[in-house]
Amino acid sequence: EGDVYKYYSEGEWKVSSSGKTVSIVNPTTRKTQFKVQACNQEEVNKIVESAKAAQKSWAKTPLWKRAELLHKAAAVLKEHKKPIAECLVKEIAKPAKDAVTEVVRSGDLVSYFAEEGVRILGEGKFLVSDSFPGNERTKYCLTSKIPLGVVLAIPPFNYPVNLAVSKIAPALIAGNSLVLKPPTQGAVAALHMVHCFHLAGFPKGLISCVTGKGSEIGDFLTMHPGVNYTGVAISKKAGMIPLQMELGGKDACIILEDADLDLAASNIVKGGFSYSGQRCTAVKVVLVMESVADELVKKVNETLAKLTVGPPEDDCDITPVVTESSANFIEGLVMDAKQKGAKFCQEYKRQGNLVWPLLLDNVRPDMRIAWEEPFGPVLPVIRINSVEEGIRHCNASNFGLQGCVFTRDINKAILISDAMETGTVQINSAPARGPDHFPFQGLKDSGIGSQGVSNSINMMTKIKTTVINLP
Ligand code: G3P
Repeated sequence: EGDVYKYYSEGEWKVSSSGKTVSIVNPTTRKTQFKVQACNQEEVNKIVESAKAAQKSWAKTPLWKRAELLHKAAAVLKEHKKPIAECLVKEIAKPAKDAVTEVVRSGDLVSYFAEEGVRILGEGKFLVSDSFPGNERTKYCLTSKIPLGVVLAIPPFNYPVNLAVSKIAPALIAGNSLVLKPPTQGAVAALHMVHCFHLAGFPKGLISCVTGKGSEIGDFLTMHPGVNYTGVAISKKAGMIPLQMELGGKDACIILEDADLDLAASNIVKGGFSYSGQRCTAVKVVLVMESVADELVKKVNETLAKLTVGPPEDDCDITPVVTESSANFIEGLVMDAKQKGAKFCQEYKRQGNLVWPLLLDNVRPDMRIAWEEPFGPVLPVIRINSVEEGIRHCNASNFGLQGCVFTRDINKAILISDAMETGTVQINSAPARGPDHFPFQGLKDSGIGSQGVSNSINMMTKIKTTVINLP
């Protein structure tokens, strides 16, 4: 029942000495699809040790050679897009075409990191002392960017490949080694992706992929003294090591009276329902001016009716959500809204992990769905009487990832963007991370640090200075 996959350590594929495996349940069939090794702490220690050793010589490998290997890995990754995408379909029920797009986008991202890396890391600074009061020109300061050491990456299930390479590539180009702990759903896609780096010929131990239960090795990894950089919501546990985190969001979509409602409606459906709403950048609440609300809701419902619902293999728009507990959580939010009087634009329908797309109108702030993120194909609409009311709702959230505003008045759009406490505001388009070289960051509970190609490279380095003191 389910093929068993090995984990990747010291450049080799290994079976865990624990003798145990973790099952990956296919969200569509709800049967075990694959099994991965349940690694133990001893194996984690070995991986971190070998990552430390490999990093030392990697840091001395010329930058252009590091870039060359990354370009090679990017090409191999793209060649392997089909089998990797098939894993994404089986493990996380990503629609078939989107799964291929994720892999291709990841290959492009790796190449972009390699190109940008040689420029960013190929430059340093030279400072002289006599610009600061009281100093003569007796000191020359040279700065350069040096690696952090061992980087730990823990990507989420919704982009097991893309959100892994968005850490792997900047880490490696900057001279770090990398330990990957993939999400359980998506672990096999991640192992395939790591295999591409293996085929590209990276030195042994530089990249490793450890699978297993979060409870057994998750905390152990994030608190590991050998790790110099991580990106998971455990900053207290991680202590004083640099962190980068991409977390949740309750991305608001504000619709003004002068908005192009067709444009807004199509973006709401695309933004709210692609990958069944399981994106941190999904539109998670619509805040629409009362005077245009009826028309907007009508248009959104017309577009929603065109979405196909079914298995990811058929490339349906709405596919089963990742786990049964996720479907149960979504259902809990829907029932709470029902009890408190939200208007259901469609009938609530669920079969196993498959939840049909649902727009909830007349949602009020006392409903859980006004604040919590369903991570599913259910979208609340709150009718507002002023722009300020919309901004207030948006800013009252603990999250602050992205937001969007639809209006034909650019001046208003800029003022609203300035007022929204989110890392990014999209004007006349749904929230989204890409293109992947754009800065990507969450305020408040939505994250730490900024991603994007140059930001991620800088995050994975530290500044080193050498001062020459002249006689
Ligand atoms: O939820 C993951 C986040 O990175 C979303 O990315 O490309 O779907 O906007 P994207």
